[in-house]
Amino acid sequence: MSSLFIHDFAEEVHVRLSDLPELIKALVEAIGVSGFEGEVREKIHGLIPKGVECKVDSIGNLIASIGSGEPHIILIAHMDELGFLVSNIEENGYVRLRKVGSFDDRYIPGKVFQIHTKQGPVEGVVGLTPPHLTVDPETMKKVLQSHELYLDVGTRSKDETSDLGVKLLDPVTVRKEFRVVNGDYFCCRSIDDRFGCLALIETLKKLHSTDLKRKMTFVWSVREETGLEGARVIANTIQADKAIVVDSYPSADAPLMPFHLAPARLGDGPVLRVTDNGATANPELVDRAMDIAEKHGIPLGAGATGGMTDGLPLQEKGIPMVPITIPIRYMHSPVEMCHRLDLEKLIQLLAFAATEI
Ligand code: CO
Repeated sequence: MSSLFIHDFAEEVHVRLSDLPELIKALVEAIGVSGFEGEVREKIHGLIPKGVECKVDSIGNLIASIGSGEPHIILIAHMDELGFLVSNIEENGYVRLRKVGSFDDRYIPGKVFQIHTKQGPVEGVVGLTPPHLTVDPETMKKVLQSHELYLDVGTRSKDETSDLGVKLLDPVTVRKEFRVVNGDYFCCRSIDDRFGCLALIETLKKLHSTDLKRKMTFVWSVREETGLEGARVIANTIQADKAIVVDSYPSADAPLMPFHLAPARLGDGPVLRVTDNGATANPELVDRAMDIAEKHGIPLGAGATGGMTDGLPLQEKGIPMVPITIPIRYMHSPVEMCHRLDLEKLIQLLAFAATEI
């Protein structure tokens, strides 16, 4: 394995990567519905090496800077996740939800949810009418929208629900349980983009004590899922020469979907998200990233896919950007999946890309 590595820090990283499942678990199980990223931000802040200058900007982005000189490179990954807010507490005690970001309605029924109240998590479930009580069988084929469903927190009245500590606008998530499937597949809600948050932390740890001849600004952004809001603030407040966006590549590597839509297999390495529904990466940065990966023997694919990233507002401000991603199955579901090897390779590649691009 070590023959692949050229730079000294690669070997040291490889050792630490045995801790990868524990590191990613801690980050994905933290709660960070868009606009409520505090817990994730604290966890990340706690993992940033001492002595690195950090700040939180007006919207809540966590920013750490190292090195000086040119070029100035931004590395950005988003802390937030899809979720819900309590939109109403009904007279019968049931709770209504409003979506934050584009959670897929098909995944809502049959799940355990957590309302993250000031007094701690309150659990509830969303159920459907059982076959035994279904009058019109056609209704069983219909996907109910989030606003049509109720969260059952086991109460009979509004007061009883309020007494549990539930308040309007409290953030809500599915109950998050990190799983390692068959040794190599990490599975949980919010793999997107906590793996990216982790990759930035590991890159910062590797580079902060090296003699950088350039400035690097690491950004853990907020509210990506609700319209790239955090990245817009970054685009308007930080002058930089280039940006590397670390986010997901929604992959079609599963039998349900046509592979040609987003052809990247989990376990085959990181992928440049060259084109998506929001932006096209800077062609020179794409070529440069490919060269760097090849030089260091790191597999790197390239592809198009749907959705958009924090790269869009940065690009709109004139900062050339490239998204370096890993393939994710079942995006925006409670069971997002990524592959351990892809994350390892991403962490290796980012340190090279940030110093050589
Ligand atoms: Co994402």
